[in-house]
Amino acid sequence: MKLTILGGGGFRVPLVYGALLTDRGEGRVTDVVLHDLDDGRLRAVARVLAEQAAAVPDAPRVTATTDLDEALRGADFVFSAIRVGGLEGRADDERVALAEGVLGQETVGAGGIAYGLRTVPVAVDIARRAARLAPDAWVINFTNPAGLVTEAMSRHLGDRVIGICDSPVGLGRRIARVLGADPKQAWIDYVGLNHLGWVRGLRIAGRDELPRLLADPDLLGSFEEGKLFGVDWLQSLGAIPNEYLHYYYFNRETVRAYQQAEKTRGAFLADQQARFYEEMRDPGAAALAAWDRTRAEREATYMAENRESAGAGERDADDLSGGYEKVALALMRAIARDERTTLILNVRNQGALSVLDADAVIEVPCLVDSGGAHPVAVAPLPEHATGLVCAVKGVEREVLAAAGSGSRARAVKAFALHPLVDSVNVARRLVEGYTDVHPGLAYLK
Ligand code: G6P
Ligand code: MN
Repeated sequence: MKLTILGGGGFRVPLVYGALLTDRGEGRVTDVVLHDLDDGRLRAVARVLAEQAAAVPDAPRVTATTDLDEALRGADFVFSAIRVGGLEGRADDERVALAEGVLGQETVGAGGIAYGLRTVPVAVDIARRAARLAPDAWVINFTNPAGLVTEAMSRHLGDRVIGICDSPVGLGRRIARVLGADPKQAWIDYVGLNHLGWVRGLRIAGRDELPRLLADPDLLGSFEEGKLFGVDWLQSLGAIPNEYLHYYYFNRETVRAYQQAEKTRGAFLADQQARFYEEMRDPGAAALAAWDRTRAEREATYMAENRESAGAGERDADDLSGGYEKVALALMRAIARDERTTLILNVRNQGALSVLDADAVIEVPCLVDSGGAHPVAVAPLPEHATGLVCAVKGVEREVLAAAGSGSRARAVKAFALHPLVDSVNVARRLVEGYTDVHPGLAYLK
């Protein structure tokens, strides 16, 4: 079975390969094709993978190419994990937004729109090629902003593209753990858009245990979301929000924390990863050890400004490895081998959340089997959450319209309609600022 990884020179590819190495079952991946635009990055990552595979018999064969069509041809699965404009682009997305006093996060607010505008045209090109060259392949989208990018690709690939994120799984796991339950036995009632969802219940043997958590301030304050959002606010909401909702509910504080940080997240990661790829140019370097050190530092500092502004302290050791490679592997196995399972995924709504149309990509529990991911119908969200979800989906559609038409006015509209952009004038200046720094936005006329 052939798995193609787009963005194959990316820093998190060894996580995926490490997960593949644990899979000894019949029908597992035998061939991994790494695709990237940058040959040096491909060589660096291939060295890490070779060290990972050294002690493993029958490890999947790894090849690398800079030819996209060659990478796609004959693939059974395609993981799309690209970063248009690199981490420098991410840092620019942050800087331009923060200078305007609005959020510059890679998936939320102005930064997410800028990143989406740059990424959608590239993702659409990939989707078109995949539909032509590997029509039976399943495409698993890791690329952020994951919901928006998955929706863009779904217009060409239908339900053969599925978006993934590890945030909902991590959240469900933390809630189950504090309740003393086995996460595998829990049904997590979660719904929303990517990085914009809420856990409204957690059922174990048919019984909703979330009210027990919400009623217990000590338990509620003992894990990441409790520390980030505060016990009182979680009790008022009566639900546990995805960690990315911290940027909405505490927007003023998170913007200030990002403005005051020594480096933005994108700038920090750009420097950190430049060092890693530089180190890999030395043929004597211990590749796996260098990668692992860099990975550990990245995980420990994840959302550090949010935690600092909330006084939440360090991350729990148990939360450090996100596990999105596990979600990807579980999804691929369920489809390839009909190993039925339930996963929270980004798929076309098809009526699961009644307030949105059938083609809107949402993040929702899905039953997965060899026929793909089937979203489960969920109860409606309360009005405040419905409002946010609809507003942000409306923004995503403006981004898709801008990318499809090349209309600068549509891009301004996308920024202006976002709940975290507080003036049409700000939106206009953001489009100016972003088109000045990003060659990938030259298509906006
Ligand atoms: C979480 C999010 C992902 C994000 C990742 C890394 O897992 O769900 O969407 O890519 O964190 O974030 P970072 O800031 O380290 O790039
Ligand atoms: Mn994510």
